[in-house]
Amino acid sequence: MKKNILRSKFFITTPIYYINSVPHIGHTYTTVIADVLARYYRLKNKKIFFLTGTDEHGQKIEKTAETLNLSPLQLCDRNSLIFKEAWDELDISFNNFIRTTDSHHIKAVGEAIKYLWRKGFIYKSYYEGFYCIGCEEYKTISELVDRKCPIHNLRVEKVKEESYFFRLSQFKEIIKNKIKREELKIRPIERKNEILEFLKQGLQDVSISRKNVKWGIPLPFDKKQTLYVWVDALFNYLTGIGWKGNPKKLPKYWPPDLQLMSKDILRMHAILWPALLLSLKIPLPKKLFVHGYFTIEGQKMSKTLGNVISPFEMIKKFGKDATRYLLVSSCSYGKDSDVSWSKFQEKYNTELANGLGNLVSRICVLGEKVTKGKKIKIIIKNKNIQKLIKDSWRKYRLLMEEVKVSEALDVIFSMVNFSNKYIVEKKVWEESRDQLKYLKELVFILENISRMIEPFMPDISQKILSQLGRKNNFKDCIFRIKRKGVLFPRLN
Ligand code: MSP
Repeated sequence: MKKNILRSKFFITTPIYYINSVPHIGHTYTTVIADVLARYYRLKNKKIFFLTGTDEHGQKIEKTAETLNLSPLQLCDRNSLIFKEAWDELDISFNNFIRTTDSHHIKAVGEAIKYLWRKGFIYKSYYEGFYCIGCEEYKTISELVDRKCPIHNLRVEKVKEESYFFRLSQFKEIIKNKIKREELKIRPIERKNEILEFLKQGLQDVSISRKNVKWGIPLPFDKKQTLYVWVDALFNYLTGIGWKGNPKKLPKYWPPDLQLMSKDILRMHAILWPALLLSLKIPLPKKLFVHGYFTIEGQKMSKTLGNVISPFEMIKKFGKDATRYLLVSSCSYGKDSDVSWSKFQEKYNTELANGLGNLVSRICVLGEKVTKGKKIKIIIKNKNIQKLIKDSWRKYRLLMEEVKVSEALDVIFSMVNFSNKYIVEKKVWEESRDQLKYLKELVFILENISRMIEPFMPDISQKILSQLGRKNNFKDCIFRIKRKGVLFPRLN
C-alpha cells in the first residue's frame, strides 16, 4: 500500500517569491506552468503535492518595510496576500502556500541548523566582501560591473562582519557526480552543462549568517546573528510539506519530483540546496527545470527595474484562462521571451479568438443545424482522423512530461488549424451526403482538443465540453450539441 502511494506521488514546487513587491508576470509564468503540470498529473491520477509560497525574511524586505513606514511583518502580510489573490484569480491549484514567517517553518529551520552546527558543518569566521540586496547574494568582484550588480543595476554593499560559514566546499565532487549521473537532473541540458562548468572552479565555503540584519531567523547557537535568507528559504521545500526539522523523519511526498525556477536562481538550487540536503543526509530532488526570462525590450522584467506587467491587469484585459494561455505559449522551452501588451493582444486575437474560438463556434453552429438539438452517437471510422488523434496524444504526453508545455500547446493548436482547414476543404456547411460524417469527425477532434487543453485553460475546456453536451465521462459516445456564447471576444 505504502509503495503504491510512493509510486504514484508527484511533488512539484515553484520558488517562493520575495514579498518586497507584488507579483508580475514572471512569477506568474512559473506558477502557471507548475499549475498546468499539477493539473496534468492529477488527470493522470497521480497523487499531487503542489507547493508555492512567499520568501519573507532578509535585508531587502527589512529595507522596503522601513521606506514604507511599515513593520516587516506588516509588509509581509500585505504582500503575501496579494500573491495569494493573484493565484486565486488564476485558479492556481496549490496544495500549500508556505510563508517563511510561519512559526512551524521557523522552528523546523532552527532544528536543522542546530543539527548542522552539532555535526560540524557550520563554523564561525569573518566575512569581508560584497553583497547585492536585489539578489540577496554575496558577489565576487569579477561578477560586478562598476561595483554594480549587472542583474539589478544596483550598487552592491561592502560587508565586513563576523559570520558563520557553511562548509560548502566539501560538496563539490559529490554534487558534480550527482548531476553528471543524472541523480539530480537539470533541464534544459545547457543549464546542466553550465553548472558543471561552474563547478570546475571549485566551491568556497559560504557565509550563512548576518549580524546586522535583524529580520531573519536567529541562529539557535548565537542569537545575535540571523540566518542567511537563502538557507532559510530553501528549507521551505521541506517545511512546506510538513517537515519538523528532523533529518530522519521525512514527509511522505519527499523528494520533489520537479522544481521549477528561472536561471537567476539555478546556482542556489543546484549547488547550495543539494549541499544542505547532503549534509543532512536527505535525498535530493529528482529534477530542476529552468525556464527563460520574460523580457521587455530585451531587458529582464523585474520589480527592481520597474518594467513589469501585472497579472491582475492581464486578467482584466484577457480573462483568466486566456492569461494562462498567453503566458505559457509565449515562452518556448528554456528560452527567453520578449513580451509586450501589443504582442499579447495579437496572439489572443489570432490564436484564441480566430483560432480556437472560431473553431468551436463553427462546429457548434453546424452541429445545432445538422442535429437539430438531438443526441448523436459518434464513432469514428476514418483512419486518418484516428491516427491524428492518437499521434497527437502521444506527442502531447511526451512533451508535457519533459516540461515542454508551450510545445504541447503547439500540438493542440495544430489540431485546431487542421480542423479549421478541414471545414473549408470539405465545405462542411453545404448540405451533402457526407455532412453528418464531417460533423462527427470535427466534434470528435474538438472533444480531444478540449481534453488536452484542460490543464492550461480549465474553464474554457469545460465550456467547450458543455457545448458538445459532454460530461466528464470520456467513454460514452453520446453528444448533444448546443452553442452557448462566444469563448473569446475579439479585442481591438
Ligand atoms: N525568493 C527567491 C527564491 C527562493 S526559492 C527557495 C527569489 N524570489 S523572486 O521573487 O525573485 O522570484 C524569482 C523567480 O520568479 C524566478 O526564479 C522565476 O521563477 C520568477 N521570475 C521572476 N522574474 C522573472 C522573469 N522576468 N521572467 C520569468 N520568470 C521570472 O528569487
